[in-house]
Amino acid sequence: MARVYNFSAGPAVLPEEVLEQCASEMLDFHGSGMSVMELSHRSQWFQYIIDEAEADLRDLMAIPDNYQVLFLQGGGSLQFSAVPLNLSANGVGSGKADYIITGNWAKKACEEAARFIDAKPVASSADKNFTYIPDCSDLPIREDADYVYICENNTIYGTTYKKLPNTKGKVLVSDVSSMFLSQPHDVKSYGVVYGGVQKNVGPAGVVIDVIRKDLIPDHELPGVPKLLEWKTQADKGSLYNTPNCWGIYVCGLTFKWLKKQGGLSAMKERNEAKAKVLYDFLDESKLFHGTVRREDRSLMNVPFVTDSKELDAEFVKEATDAGLVNLKGHRTVGGMRASIYNAMPYEGVVALVDFMKRFEAAH
Ligand SMILES: Cc1ncc(COP(=O)(O)O)c(C=O)c1O
Repeated sequence: MARVYNFSAGPAVLPEEVLEQCASEMLDFHGSGMSVMELSHRSQWFQYIIDEAEADLRDLMAIPDNYQVLFLQGGGSLQFSAVPLNLSANGVGSGKADYIITGNWAKKACEEAARFIDAKPVASSADKNFTYIPDCSDLPIREDADYVYICENNTIYGTTYKKLPNTKGKVLVSDVSSMFLSQPHDVKSYGVVYGGVQKNVGPAGVVIDVIRKDLIPDHELPGVPKLLEWKTQADKGSLYNTPNCWGIYVCGLTFKWLKKQGGLSAMKERNEAKAKVLYDFLDESKLFHGTVRREDRSLMNVPFVTDSKELDAEFVKEATDAGLVNLKGHRTVGGMRASIYNAMPYEGVVALVDFMKRFEAAH
C-alpha cells in the first residue's frame, strides 16, 4: 500500500491510526456485530459514541459547562444561515450584525446573513486580495449589533488572526473550520465557535458548534425551519433527527488521538514546527514565495507561488508524480497551497520542502 502526502484543503488527511481503527472496527463495533454505519442512532452503542465524543471534545477544548456542544449537519455553510437566524433574537427580519471580511468564507457568511438581518461589513482586506488580517483594535462596531463575526483561519488565502478582534463587548462568533483543534481555543472569548470537521477532525458531513447557552433562543423563531433552530438539537443532545453517525464516530476517534498526542497545546507546538520548515524555506527561496503578510500567516494553509503560471503548473504536476498531492492553489490565488493540518506528519512537510529545493535547483 502506498499512501501519498495529501496537502488537500479539505476533505483532508486524517491520522493513520484513526483510519486503522475504523478499518478494524468496520464489521463489528464493540461486539455489536454491526458496523457503526449499521447502528441505530437510538442504540446504546451510538449513545456511547456521541457521549464519549462530546466528553473528549469538552476535555480537549476545556469547554465550560455553560456552553452547549452540537454535532450538526449542513456543513459550515448552513451555519452561515443558522448564526444570524438564532442570534437575531426575534427571528427573521430583525437584528444587526457586523462582519469582518477576510476572505471568501467570511464574505459568503455575511451575504447569507444579509438575507435575514442587517449584516454589515465593518472591515475588509479585499483591497489586497485578502493577503492580510485588518487591524481590528478599534472597529466601528454598531452599538446595537447582536454579534461580531469572523472567519478565524482563511483556508483559501492562508491568513489567520493572531489576536481576536476588539468587539467592544459584543458577542464574538468565529468560524474555525480550517484551524479546528489545531491549537487551544479560549472558548470563553466566544459566544459561538464552530467548525466543519472535514479539514482537521473527520470526514465531511459534520459541523460542530460550541455555543454559550444563554445565546440559544428559548422560544420558537417565527419563519425559521426547525432544524435551523439551535434549540431543536440542543434539547435532544444532537439527536433530534438521524445525525451523521459515522462522521461523529470518526471525530470521536480523532479526539482520542489528539488527547494521546498531548492535547491542543502539544498540537500547536507540532503545527508551529511543521509550518516553520515550510515558511523558512519560502523566505529563503529565490523561486518560490509566500503570498500573505508574514505576521498573519496561517499554521494550517500555506499558499505560495513562483513568478510563472507555467512553472506553477509544472511544479504541481511533478509533485503529484512524486506522491505529494493536492497542491494546486485555489483559483482566486493561483499557484500552490499546502494544507498542513494536524494529521500531516512533520516528515510530509520535510518531503515537500526537499522536493521544492530539488525543483528550484533544476529551474
Ligand atoms: C473556513 C471555512 N468555512 C466554511 C467552509 C464551508 O464549509 P462546508 O463546505 O462544510 O459548508 C469552508 C470550506 O472549505 C471553510 O474553509
